[in-house]
Amino acid sequence: MSDTLSSSLTRRDFLSTSAKLGAFIAAAPYIARGADATGADQVNVAVIGCGEQGRILINAALKIPGVRFKAVCDIWPVNRNYAENILKKFGHDPKPFEDYRELLSTVKEIDAVIIATPDFKHAEHTVAALKAGKHVYCEKLMSNTIEGARSMVVAARETKKLLQLGHQRRSNPRYIHAKDKIVTGNRLLGRVTNITGEWHRAVSADLGFPAGKGLSEAKLAEYGYANMHEFRNWRWFKRYAGGPMSDLGAHQIDIYNWMLGVNPRSCMASGGVDYYKTHEWYDNAIAIFEYETKEGIVRATYNVLTTTSAGGGYHEYFMGDEGALKISENPKATKLYREARAPEWDEWTAKGVVAAPLSGEGAPPAVKPWEKVGVKKLAGPSKATVDVRETAALSAWDIPVTLDKAIHQPHLENFFDAVRKGTPLNCPGEAAFASAITILKINEAVAAQKTLTFAPGDFIA
Ligand SMILES: NC(=O)c1ccc[n+]([C@@H]2O[C@H](COP(=O)([O-])OP(=O)(O)OC[C@H]3O[C@@H](n4cnc5c(N)ncnc54)[C@H](O)[C@@H]3O)[C@@H](O)[C@H]2O)c1
Repeated sequence: MSDTLSSSLTRRDFLSTSAKLGAFIAAAPYIARGADATGADQVNVAVIGCGEQGRILINAALKIPGVRFKAVCDIWPVNRNYAENILKKFGHDPKPFEDYRELLSTVKEIDAVIIATPDFKHAEHTVAALKAGKHVYCEKLMSNTIEGARSMVVAARETKKLLQLGHQRRSNPRYIHAKDKIVTGNRLLGRVTNITGEWHRAVSADLGFPAGKGLSEAKLAEYGYANMHEFRNWRWFKRYAGGPMSDLGAHQIDIYNWMLGVNPRSCMASGGVDYYKTHEWYDNAIAIFEYETKEGIVRATYNVLTTTSAGGGYHEYFMGDEGALKISENPKATKLYREARAPEWDEWTAKGVVAAPLSGEGAPPAVKPWEKVGVKKLAGPSKATVDVRETAALSAWDIPVTLDKAIHQPHLENFFDAVRKGTPLNCPGEAAFASAITILKINEAVAAQKTLTFAPGDFIA
């Protein structure tokens, strides 16, 4: 075993152990309130940041028995009022706040805080909530700075409170099935050698805001925004966000690390502001990672484009010598492929691990093995020959597990189960920190225009 591999295994072991330990220690302080009207143990929740994602999380959490919203916080009345009104329609009575500090010091009965503010505020809001004795579910990317991300893990550790990060694919039953039963568990892909992934989005316009509803210059300055344009389009600017790799790539590159069970050893990348005149962050980028796994090197590419919706949307593609897995939050973009040279999958169909597709691409599955169809003499004076083999088609299969809930619901359920019952978190701070380090390295590599390596210990907060 090489030094690098041995140190990466040690780091992995450390992360796994500390994550489990963190969840166990932190789960202790929750004192059950008893069943609410739904029959579930009640958890009192506040939301900080009620924009697009805050509302999506509210909608998903409303479907979870026992969750009671006690407060909402947003500096923009437009979004604060919207969230308050939605919650009132569902029978909750949240107190509205502009300033999170007032929320944390006033509404004492809150157990957990959901944070969906722009990335540059995650560390400030998370650390304050943890120090106020609350468990925290914070959106990805953990932070747009390494220091910010580290401060969140340290605060969770010191306060012994739970910190879950919003990499929700880790709680998606289809992703869990793919990892436990297909890639890692039964090794149906054989030796994974490569990964590709992408997220492509069409050109997007300035978000704007309703006439007369802007925040004053003084209010924007108080909360760290230059003007309404930057406040609304914070993703385009370096002081508020980590760029498209952090915005979109974070979801999928986190899954590379999670699926392989190791963090990468190096990263090279290229990107630029090639299209927009209004963006500070690159509008497209390509990254290449090298992973050193127990079975050998895995090379992984990731491509993010913000100027076209072509290319099939978003997915991660794990490729091995016996099969390949194309997986996405979009079930229609998910497919499993078996190489003709791989052992038959009858056993796995019988066990419900894979399913022959009933219709669409590749159905019925072609399971014909490679066949020798002739012999060819090699060019030159020697009498050497090679076998000519038919290139058998890949057979396509389905994953017989679907998510029949809102995409963020299982991850929130996991968080609330951790709060109420001590269930281990699916994405604790330590794991999310390793992903943040991986993703922020791409930005460094784009600027450096060369391959950067990860030092042992980089992934530990
Ligand atoms: N997990 C996912 O699939 C997913 C999807 C989209 C966004 N996100 C993440 O969610 C977060 C929010 O993204 P969004 O698309 O909802 O952005 P958004 O701009 O729509 O919402 C952000 C909200 O935060 C509020 N806000 C800003 N500063 C604040 C402060 N200091 N205190 C309180 N409120 C403040 C804004 O007024 C706004 O309502 C980001 O971190 C983003 O990366 C995650």
